[in-house]
Amino acid sequence: MSQLADAVNRRRTFAIISHPDAGKTTLTEKLLLFGGAIQMAGAVKARGEQRRARSDWMKVERERGISVASSVMTFEYAGCTFNLLDTPGHGDFSEDTYRTLTAVDSAIMVIDAAKGIEEQTRKLFEVCRLRDVPIITFVNKMDREARDPFEILDEIEQDLALDVTPASWPIGMGRDFRGAYDLLNDRLALMERVDREHLPEEGDACQGLDDPHLDAMLPGHAAETLREQAAMARSLCPAFDREAFREGHMTPVYFGSAINTFGVRELLNGLVREAPPPRPQPTTTRDVHPTEEAVSGFVFKIQANMDPRHRDRIAYVRLASGHFRRGMKLKHVRTGKTVNLHNPHLFLARDRELAEEAVAGDIIGVPNHGNLRIGDALTAGESLRFTGIPSFAPEMLQAVRPEDPMKAKHLGRALVQIAEEGAAQVFRPRQGAEWIVGVVGALQFDVLADRIRTEYDIPVRFEPAGLYTAVWVGSDDDRRFKAFQEANRTAIADDHDDVPVFLARNAWHLNRAQEDWPEIRFARTREQA
Ligand code: G4P
Repeated sequence: MSQLADAVNRRRTFAIISHPDAGKTTLTEKLLLFGGAIQMAGAVKARGEQRRARSDWMKVERERGISVASSVMTFEYAGCTFNLLDTPGHGDFSEDTYRTLTAVDSAIMVIDAAKGIEEQTRKLFEVCRLRDVPIITFVNKMDREARDPFEILDEIEQDLALDVTPASWPIGMGRDFRGAYDLLNDRLALMERVDREHLPEEGDACQGLDDPHLDAMLPGHAAETLREQAAMARSLCPAFDREAFREGHMTPVYFGSAINTFGVRELLNGLVREAPPPRPQPTTTRDVHPTEEAVSGFVFKIQANMDPRHRDRIAYVRLASGHFRRGMKLKHVRTGKTVNLHNPHLFLARDRELAEEAVAGDIIGVPNHGNLRIGDALTAGESLRFTGIPSFAPEMLQAVRPEDPMKAKHLGRALVQIAEEGAAQVFRPRQGAEWIVGVVGALQFDVLADRIRTEYDIPVRFEPAGLYTAVWVGSDDDRRFKAFQEANRTAIADDHDDVPVFLARNAWHLNRAQEDWPEIRFARTREQA
């Protein structure tokens, strides 16, 4: 295998999806602990200077309500390089969260064992499904009163229409939770409650579930119960099938307790053994393979305002192919200009370090002044256009107005910039002078109002617009498309790239239009229009 192919094969680029409070932060910390990217309490003390610097980042993070330092975390484990992409939670959604999922090769879905599948988990899962992202499930908080594992498996299967297979089987739950049996590798791991920062060893190897060793290790009838339940689970669920998993049709399920660092090692091993390395990326002309020598990548996220005094931004680029080295010059396909990448960032957990080298699957942060946009391609010269980085139909729409009517034009410019960054969708109705702003989570309106005021010096008001959603419209029949736009003049707007959208007042309005105009495509992502 070539050096490049070997490096690519050892990359695992993933995200964690979950509902707030399920334990994503706790699990992230534990993953980093295994990866050696963060140290245990005590060891951190020696780096006081660095720690202070880091807490400054966190202050920025809090004030701006965005995550700065932790957008991408890289760590090593068992010979693999992991890139963990943050999907900001905040009990709210942003398009960022959605788009980040277009840049991963797999995802961990964390579920609270007492709660099962919750709303945000379901939403994020649906986004993963758009690209058939393989999902590993971690059922967390088994040390608390939890639901019956069979019930949890059933719920995942029914609710998400996904095949499930237990990768481990829990032994007891709540106060009687002892550990889990690794069904894929026949190992028994017992949980230690004493030291939560301690990294547990790999479980004991067993000769299958009939191994008498289990009776010696487990109290009372626990071994017997384990055998019965595991046999039942195996008869009810299909066996693990790597192909089905990698195609996004089956999820292996691990049971654990993040806070007790239990089940985390097994989960990581699962990622190492089963999760796919970087996949080929589709473009309008061909699939780009990760082991191609020529470097290419696409922007999936923009972070503005690391420093409010400057309009500088970081564009997060996921490398799709090649061996990137610092100082390389790449072609910015949309403008045809050359971008000199002399100071890209590689995001490490401890601090930001300059990227010297990176391969497909890795993320580099490229500082720029607004010339890089979501979806843009950087290549060694080829005019590639990556697909699959959709804009999503906003779920909340409001009209925005400047407090000072003289600033309407400035506001327009600010909104287009914000839309180009991907922070919100903006639409200009064909009739009327107001702009409509669409987001996927309500909190974003506050964040936007704040940004427009502080960055562009335009105080604004958001007001209800009486709209339900905006969907992109298109058709192969030009004549009908024109007629449709004529007939619905008050409901048509253009997005920041002048792609037409239909602004629906309610579900009925949308359904009616769809029924009346069968030749028109109504698309929930812009790509499909
Ligand atoms: P999130 O990022 O998904 O929102 O969840 P987070 O990790 O912050 O965890 C939410 C709460 O659940 C935290 O408690 C955390 O300690 C707890 N938790 C996480 N994993 C486990 C687990 O395996 N078992 C149990 N019993 N609890 C777990 P908190 O009280 O909200 O915060 P804290 O004061 O403990 O930090």
